[in-house]
Amino acid sequence: MQSARKPDNTIIIIFGAGGDLTWRKISPAFYNLFLDGWLPDNFSVIGLDIKDMPDDDFRTRLLDGINQFSRSGKAKQEDWDKFSAMLSYQKANFTNQETFNKLAQRIEEIEEKWKGKSNRIFYMAIPPKFIEAIAEQLGKSNIACDKEHARIVVEKPFGHDLNSARSLNRIICSIFDEHQVYRIDHYLGKETVQNMLAFRFANALFEPIWNRNYIDHVQITVAEQVGVEHRGGYYDNAGALRDMIQNHLLQLLCITAMEPPVSFNADEVRNKKVDVLRAIRKYKPEEVHSFAVRGQYGKGWIEGERVVSYREESGVNTKSVTETFAALKFFIDNWRWQDVPFYLRTGKRMTERISVITIQFRPVPHRAFPAESVENWHPNRLILNIQPDKGIKLRFQAKKPGLKMILNPVEMSFDYDDAYQADPPEAYETLLLDIMLGDATLFMRGDQVEAAWEVIMPILDYWQSSSSPEFPNYSSGTWGPEDSEALIARDGNNWIMLTPK
Ligand code: BG6
Repeated sequence: MQSARKPDNTIIIIFGAGGDLTWRKISPAFYNLFLDGWLPDNFSVIGLDIKDMPDDDFRTRLLDGINQFSRSGKAKQEDWDKFSAMLSYQKANFTNQETFNKLAQRIEEIEEKWKGKSNRIFYMAIPPKFIEAIAEQLGKSNIACDKEHARIVVEKPFGHDLNSARSLNRIICSIFDEHQVYRIDHYLGKETVQNMLAFRFANALFEPIWNRNYIDHVQITVAEQVGVEHRGGYYDNAGALRDMIQNHLLQLLCITAMEPPVSFNADEVRNKKVDVLRAIRKYKPEEVHSFAVRGQYGKGWIEGERVVSYREESGVNTKSVTETFAALKFFIDNWRWQDVPFYLRTGKRMTERISVITIQFRPVPHRAFPAESVENWHPNRLILNIQPDKGIKLRFQAKKPGLKMILNPVEMSFDYDDAYQADPPEAYETLLLDIMLGDATLFMRGDQVEAAWEVIMPILDYWQSSSSPEFPNYSSGTWGPEDSEALIARDGNNWIMLTPK
């Protein structure tokens, strides 16, 4: 979100540096920032984890991640030599003060060499259960006491429910001020999601009709083809509501529904999002079944390959009642959106991998054309493609060429690949650069996370206390359980057919 400038000298301290996230996302992102010239003149990564590992083994592991996952492909030797010289590793015990004394000494040595203070970014790439111990040790060792230079980065899941999120916020904010805390929701770093802000607030055309007078309903779909992969253990305690809706889908909803910010100041943008979350109607337990549907995948076929059911995945309880699919209907009780349904759905093992926001406009108030010309009449529709297609389409009615007045829908479309040649940066590149620059606009503020939990708690509580549907209730490779179709059909709507180009 920041304008072009390089960050000040920075030391990144990654807790959980031996884990999947560092290997798959964080190091490829830093590597690409390095290639594109965005790293500060002085930059250093200190990886910490419980395993004993010489620096060279740590570097080799990161190189392997970069070679597999970097958008720029395999690392070239001379680039890698320069980049890897900035990486080092320290074996750690997150509850032991000795680890933090050693870390403090290492940081001081680096800063001495650089002849000045640097940003110290403490990255929690670890399960939340370790954060309390680390925060306590950071507090004791004084390495994070400089409010101007120290920052903490926290990955999702941010808490398991409202209470645990509140307590995590309390722990973190006992050491850091809110402006030093960067809670990551990687959807906010996606190029297409940032573009939603540009689309809505850099164009005069849509804002006057972006309300209940013109919009019939909104659909937000984040569908995945993958199952739970190697994360069965984590996922079985989370489920789709916690894993996707509480964060990614509610953030997409916020950007779609928020009021125009006065400026792109982090707090201004986040205030507007919190307003949306607070205005979402909270369901009473007895209402949940009318507004929320859950599903769990059974076996089936994905792209011609047989895949197992959720309950057969490794790390998953064979009688699990965890949902891998959720469809919800929300209302936003404010002036702009009163009575406009927002339908959200997400699931694993679905037909396609596709994330889309669809704005369905109301029909025209009066059809002036003769009946035979309008049989294929569809109200306007705006489609914001987040991934894998990236772009925006607007559907409107046009006259079919010919001697008669026959109307049919056509599309105007903007496609990233056609419009821009360069590969957009990965979400993590944007987010890591923003953290180094100290711009929190694309990060979740503490009250925002809690407000999102408040939205889903009644549903979580109801699902936990009531018996689940007969699981599995959808086959892999489909669009989810039939009840999800019923949820939207009750309003006379249907999930819009989605097919990537
Ligand atoms: C993560 C979830 O936050 O987002 C995963 O924990 C999910 O379960 C992933 O697969 C989806 O991210 P993306 O960027 O692939 O849409």
